[in-house]
Amino acid sequence: MALTRGCRLAYVAGLFLGVMGILGAHGGSLTEPPAVSLLKIPVPGSRQKPPVKFSHRVHEARRVACTQCHHEYQGKRNVWREGQPVDKCQACHGLKPEARRLDVKNAYHRQCKGCHRRLRQQGRQAGPIECQGCHRPT
Ligand code: HEC
Ligand code: HEC
Ligand code: HEC
Ligand code: HEC
Repeated sequence: MALTRGCRLAYVAGLFLGVMGILGAHGGSLTEPPAVSLLKIPVPGSRQKPPVKFSHRVHEARRVACTQCHHEYQGKRNVWREGQPVDKCQACHGLKPEARRLDVKNAYHRQCKGCHRRLRQQGRQAGPIECQGCHRPT
């Protein structure tokens, strides 16, 4: 069956977006958050835990500010603002701690579990703090 012109245009647009998606995933920094990410860091020698599904949507709906998680420090000040490109945590937090920078595993645990624990202590709804709550086989 021959494609109509509309179909062909949609197909080409789809291809284009697909390629942009690949470029976005591989090069440069993004400014728009993906709805859901599967987080996985390589930690040599550790007994690997299943990857962690992280939903920007859930956190956005709960009004967690971008700056609670994304930062770029100048001295003690976080100068990162919404709309600016976002670097991966691993761009700054390596496999080993460095100066005041936590290693990437502890950076995640401190940030993710830290907030969930704080909110629970205040009697508010929060995400999981037990291992399987985040590390789930998919
Ligand atoms: C609760 C924590 C949290 C909040 C809130 C949050 N993010 Fe993220 N964001 C993350 C994590 C974790 C990643 C994955 C980082 C990685 O792969 O190293 C991420 C990834 C991203 C990425 C993709 C970076 C890349 O190159 O893969 C962008 C863009 C982004 N966030 C933008 C935002 C914006 C804009 C907001 C506010 C509307 C926001 N985020 C709110 C935790 C958060
Ligand atoms: C541009 C570099 C950079 C990126 C990208 C980055 N960090 Fe950091 N982070 C730092 C530096 C530098 C510090 C130390 C700040 C200080 O002086 O106390 C820090 C501190 C922290 C801390 C402890 C202080 C705090 O803010 O609670 C946590 C937790 C943390 N980072 C988690 C993360 C996570 C998770 C990501 C990815 C979503 C991330 N960081 C991305 C540079 C970065
Ligand atoms: C500043 C506070 C804060 C930070 C930081 C944070 N969360 Fe959450 N998280 C929440 C809140 C609030 C909820 C919503 C609880 C509800 O509505 O039941 C939530 C819910 C969740 C849930 C359950 C909902 C779902 O998506 O399945 C998971 C899993 C989760 N968070 C993972 C993470 C991970 C992984 C990180 C770190 C990358 C993180 N969170 C960082 C506050 C936070
Ligand atoms: C709030 C979410 C959350 C909870 C709860 C949590 N983690 Fe994690 N953990 C993460 C994230 C995000 C990463 C980085 C992505 C990855 O590699 O899984 C991580 C990474 C790790 C890593 C390094 C990567 C690997 O697979 O070797 C280990 C080990 C780990 N976690 C163990 C644990 C253990 C043990 C518990 C329970 C005591 C736990 N985590 C609870 C979010 C969580």
